[in-house]
Amino acid sequence: MKIFMDTADVAEIKEFADLGIVYGVTTNPSLIAKTGRPQAEVIPEIAKLVEGPVSAEVISVECSGMVAEARELSKISSNVVVKIPCIAEGLKAVKLLSAEGIRTNVTLVFSLSQALLAARAGADYVSPFIGRLDYIGENGVKLVEDMVKVFRQYSLPTEIIAASIRGIDHVNDVMLAGADIATIPTKVLRQMFLHQLTDAGLKKFLEDYAASQK
Ligand code: G3P
Repeated sequence: MKIFMDTADVAEIKEFADLGIVYGVTTNPSLIAKTGRPQAEVIPEIAKLVEGPVSAEVISVECSGMVAEARELSKISSNVVVKIPCIAEGLKAVKLLSAEGIRTNVTLVFSLSQALLAARAGADYVSPFIGRLDYIGENGVKLVEDMVKVFRQYSLPTEIIAASIRGIDHVNDVMLAGADIATIPTKVLRQMFLHQLTDAGLKKFLEDYAASQK
């Protein structure tokens, strides 16, 4: 499973990109708004920091507007992927963009049927939002498990980006489910490094080393 960061914070992305563990980035209008800067300024900076896909979302809700926005976004860098909402107009846009070679990530996916439609429209990536499903009493991880099974069963090439991740358990569960990618908020990514036995073990090694030098 590849690791993406689910943030538009350039400083945070740089910090983790320098560690060599982050392949791609996903953003959305809410994450861009948090930066206080326009998308046209932020996305080019992010696209230089990571080698893999950087998702930038359209804000039109009609096919023609989405396609026009997507064409502009795709000019920013060859690793920009256009995020399109999972609505009928969006899937129509995905079909057109796919024919033009513009890569898409269908977002706001909450069901297996939406995932199939996105894949059949030609989406390169599809993003099930697992935390938001859990929040309404459904099972987000189960959706990822089902999507992995169905995409394999029908040899669909669309990659699954597990999104709306709330904690390490979600990361572990979607990894075990076979998600191609997890897009992880910075706070959760930081937690992934930590284990109390690592800290305790390192402390003891350093103490034993110091004692052996006396
Ligand atoms: O890429 C955006 C997606 O992960 C949404 O996350 O935290 O707003 O539910 P969240």
